[in-house]
Amino acid sequence: MVNRMIQPKKNIDKSRKLRHVCYDIRGPVLEKANTLIAAGHDILKLNIGNPAPFGLYAETRLKQALIDQLDAAQGYGESKGLFAARQAIHAHNMNHGFKNTSVDDIIIGNGVSELIVMAMQALLDDGDEMLIPMPDYPLWTAATHLAGGLARHYLCDEHNDWRPNLADIESKISKKTKGILVINPNNPTGSVYDKDTLVAITELARKHNLIIFADEIYDKILYDGATHLSIASLQDDLTVITFNGLSKSYRLAGFRAGWLTISGDKARATDYIVGLNMLASMRLCANMQAQFVIAEALNHDHSIYQLTAPGNRLHEQRNVAYERLNQIPGITCTKPRGAIYLFAQLDTQRFNIQNDEQLMLDLVTQQKLLLVQGTAFNWHLPDHFRLVFLPSVPVLHDAMDRLTDFLKDYRQ
Ligand SMILES: Cc1ncc(COP(=O)(O)O)c(C=O)c1O
Repeated sequence: MVNRMIQPKKNIDKSRKLRHVCYDIRGPVLEKANTLIAAGHDILKLNIGNPAPFGLYAETRLKQALIDQLDAAQGYGESKGLFAARQAIHAHNMNHGFKNTSVDDIIIGNGVSELIVMAMQALLDDGDEMLIPMPDYPLWTAATHLAGGLARHYLCDEHNDWRPNLADIESKISKKTKGILVINPNNPTGSVYDKDTLVAITELARKHNLIIFADEIYDKILYDGATHLSIASLQDDLTVITFNGLSKSYRLAGFRAGWLTISGDKARATDYIVGLNMLASMRLCANMQAQFVIAEALNHDHSIYQLTAPGNRLHEQRNVAYERLNQIPGITCTKPRGAIYLFAQLDTQRFNIQNDEQLMLDLVTQQKLLLVQGTAFNWHLPDHFRLVFLPSVPVLHDAMDRLTDFLKDYRQ
C-alpha cells in the first residue's frame, strides 16, 4: 500500500557548489534599489553596462537582419554556431592578427557570459587555480568557483594606469595554476593595455605553461587614440581563448550573442577543446535569431566610432563623468581610455568608510542613485566604486550633484 503519511517539510537549500560563488553587482544594493522602486521612488541607475536603456540603440540594419531571418531561425542550429556567423567572426579575427585559428575554432554562445561559465567548467578540476585581475569582471571569479576552482586575484595598479602588476601575478602562480585572464579594455577600470604589458603576460604564460583567456568585449570602445591589440595576435605557441560579442560595441546586450575563439597552440589543448564542444552540444545551440545578426554586424563598418570620437556622445560623457568625479572632495579617479566605466577611489579616512556596500546602500537610500561598490569587483579594500557613464550629459550632471551632496557630510 502507498504510504500517504505527510513528511515533515525540509528546507530547499542551494547546492554546495554555490558556496563560494558571489555576484554582488546584482546583490543587496540592487535589492534595496528594487524595494525603493516598488515603493514609488525613481532610482538613477548607473550600475550596469547596458547601453539600450540610455538611448544607445543598435543600428537599424542590425535589427532588420534579425527580422529578415526570423523564419530561418526557427529550428536548432549547429552547436558551435551558424556557419556564416562563424565565417564573419573568423574574418574579423584574421583582421586582428589572430594566429593559427579557423572557423572551426569558434563557438557562439548566448552572450559571452554563457561561454565564460562553459570555459571554466570544461577546464577546472576541484582546487585548480585561475589568475584573475583585481578588480575583475566578477562573473569570471564566480564561474571559476562554480567550476570548483580557486580564483587567485592579481593586482592591477591604479598608479600605473591600472596595468597588471607582473610581479604580483608571478607571486600568485602555483603548481595548480591553469590559466590567466586578461580583460582588455578593462571593466571596471577602463584601462587599455600597451603591447609591452601584453607581451610580458605572454612570457609569464609561456614560462608557467598557462592557457590565456582574453576577454575583449570592449575592443572597439576606445578613446583618445588608444589602440587595442588582441593578445591572440602576439604569438602562436601559446593557447589563447578570446571572448567577444554583440553586447557592447554593437549595443545589442539583450540579443545575447557572444563568441569564443581558440587560437595559437591548439594541439596541446585537444582534450580541453573536446570538453568545450561537449558543453556546447549539451545546450544544443545558442539562440538562433541573434546569430543571424553577427555577420551583418562584423562585415560592415559600424557606428561605435561615431560615439567614441571627440565631440561625440560617449567621449563627452566620459569626460564629464571623469571631471566631475575628480572635483568631489575625497574622490579621485584615473581617466579611462576604453569601455564605459570609471573605477573611482574614495578617501576612506575622510568618510570613515569601513564597509563599501553600506556606503552604496546609504547612497541609494538617501539620494536614489545606484552605483556598485568596489568589493563587488573583488577589489580588496572598501575604497572604490564603479560608475557607468552611459547616460547623457545632463543625467550625469544630476548623478554628480547627488553624489556631491551625499558625500558632503558623510561619515560611516
Ligand atoms: C568584461 C565583460 N565580459 C563579459 C561580459 C558579458 O557580456 P555578454 O553580454 O556578452 O554576456 C561583460 C558584461 O558587462 C563584461 O563587462
